[in-house]
Amino acid sequence: VEVVDYERRHLEGIVALCREEGWPSFPEDRLRADRVLRAPGVTSVVAVEGEAVIGFAYLQSDGEIQAHLSNIVVARRHRRTGIGRALLQVGFERAGGRRLDLITDSAHSFYEALDHRRLAGYRLYPPFDEPGRTQP
Ligand SMILES: CC(C)(COP(=O)(O)OP(=O)(O)OC[C@H]1O[C@@H](n2cnc3c(N)ncnc32)[C@H](O)[C@@H]1OP(=O)(O)O)[C@@H](O)C(=O)NCCC(=O)NCCS
Repeated sequence: VEVVDYERRHLEGIVALCREEGWPSFPEDRLRADRVLRAPGVTSVVAVEGEAVIGFAYLQSDGEIQAHLSNIVVARRHRRTGIGRALLQVGFERAGGRRLDLITDSAHSFYEALDHRRLAGYRLYPPFDEPGRTQP
């Protein structure tokens, strides 16, 4: 298993991993997913075994201080073999920064196994100039 930079040929494998997790954003528009993974300021890394995509992660960073993890997934049959850690390590080295923030409702035990502080997180939805409604 190797961790490499994202290329267009990894897209179908990444979309398949998202579909398995029930995450709609990438499967519903593949061209948008490809743009997102290559967007300015985004670092996208892929775990591959031969030609097979078995995990990916993407993050944003200012390059020096603050990074944010957008998503990480490892194929079910490859979990608990260190690939998740490797994706974070390589992605963060490539992106730069001193710390990595994220929100999660599904992977507490993975993040808690890493050096961390637990803080409250919020996901905000625009517009920001009116009182909010709760969104999914
Ligand atoms: C979260 C995820 C990416 C972790 O990937 P992984 O390759 O299994 O992680 P690693 O093997 O590097 O795990 C590192 C350590 O985290 C901890 N850990 C990871 N998954 C765990 C679990 N399900 N239960 C308990 N501890 C866990 C363990 O301490 C593990 O080390 P160990 O296996 O030596 O005990 C993977 O479980 C996944 O794809 N989950 C579904 C998608 C998801 O929820 N993504 C996060 C969105 S915010």
